[in-house]
Amino acid sequence: MSRKILVSGGAGFIGSHIVDRLVQRNDFESLVIVDNFWTGLQSNLAHISDPRVHLVQADVETFSTETRFDEIIHLASPASPPWYMREPIRTINANLMGAMNLINKLTPGGKISFASTSEVYGDPLVSPQPESYRGSVDCTGPRSSYDESKRCTESLLFECRRTQGIDLRIVRLFNVYGPRTRPDDGRAVSNFLSQALTHGELTVYGDGMQSRSWGYVDDIVDALERYFWKDDVSYVGPLNIGNDKEIPVIDIARFITELVPGSRIKICPPIPQDPTNRRPDLTLCRQVLPGWEANVTYQDGIARTLQWFRDQVMSGAQTSAPTPVRLAD
Ligand SMILES: NC(=O)c1ccc[n+]([C@@H]2O[C@H](COP(=O)([O-])OP(=O)(O)OC[C@H]3O[C@@H](n4cnc5c(N)ncnc54)[C@H](O)[C@@H]3O)[C@@H](O)[C@H]2O)c1
Repeated sequence: MSRKILVSGGAGFIGSHIVDRLVQRNDFESLVIVDNFWTGLQSNLAHISDPRVHLVQADVETFSTETRFDEIIHLASPASPPWYMREPIRTINANLMGAMNLINKLTPGGKISFASTSEVYGDPLVSPQPESYRGSVDCTGPRSSYDESKRCTESLLFECRRTQGIDLRIVRLFNVYGPRTRPDDGRAVSNFLSQALTHGELTVYGDGMQSRSWGYVDDIVDALERYFWKDDVSYVGPLNIGNDKEIPVIDIARFITELVPGSRIKICPPIPQDPTNRRPDLTLCRQVLPGWEANVTYQDGIARTLQWFRDQVMSGAQTSAPTPVRLAD
């Protein structure tokens, strides 16, 4: 009951869903959420009234406290290319310097879990991608601040495990979508939904045949919950988590135009270094988390996400949320 937990990036899309799962636990004393609201929204946590939860507005890389934590979940980083490309140095700081800072906040024997990404595979030359695939990343390319800071943070954490024996869980997430994505997030699903509900023109870059494995957030957070704390897992990672059904971007756009009458597709020039394909090899995941599958179909997941976007539009401005504080010590 005296356990202390920290989540960085907990006001973000995935982070706020993780917080929802954490507050269902009755074995901890406090949960500190560290977020600077760069891409996260206070409204994502507006429904949380658990007195054990403390929301701290701070940069994870400089966050300071005397408290030590038994479990740290490091999610602070934008995940959307337009956001991380706009502020690449800030992105490297959030991932790498954030992890360096957080390691020092662990209790002896404490566990740190880190959200890495399928972007560590770059524009992959093998499909599906197993964790053993070393990747095809351009280390000076336009996506490098994100890809390489995730890769370096994985290295940092593994080296800390080797030299200091810290407990570790590293996941490589593939594309996740669902409620609580920012309307201006800039990735395909949220872009298409926002565009469909406003001016009606869905911008598809290139021929739209680039494929992704779209994981609905409830499915993905089921896996994260099991891997980070619920199951008795000793495997430290890296572990692919995602949906292994690959769907071309154009199919997602077409489906949304069917759901939103009057919306239509506009083909635009391709984005430089946009990966042509992404699909997780889930062999290891199925061993580590037996029985887990990404079950929600893209049709069902997109319909649920569209409903959430509609509700946001209907409800207008952001709702009230817990007031961020600086931690007392
Ligand atoms: N969403 C995906 O498809 C996906 C895929 C692969 C990996 N991931 C990883 O999962 C994590 C969460 O992704 P998400 O989709 O929820 O992104 P998000 O942008 O919605 O959430 C990130 C959160 O981190 C916060 N943040 C960013 N920099 C910070 C800093 N320096 N200090 C404190 N807070 C900071 C943001 O304000 C935001 O609340 C990220 O690490 C991301 O790289 C996500």
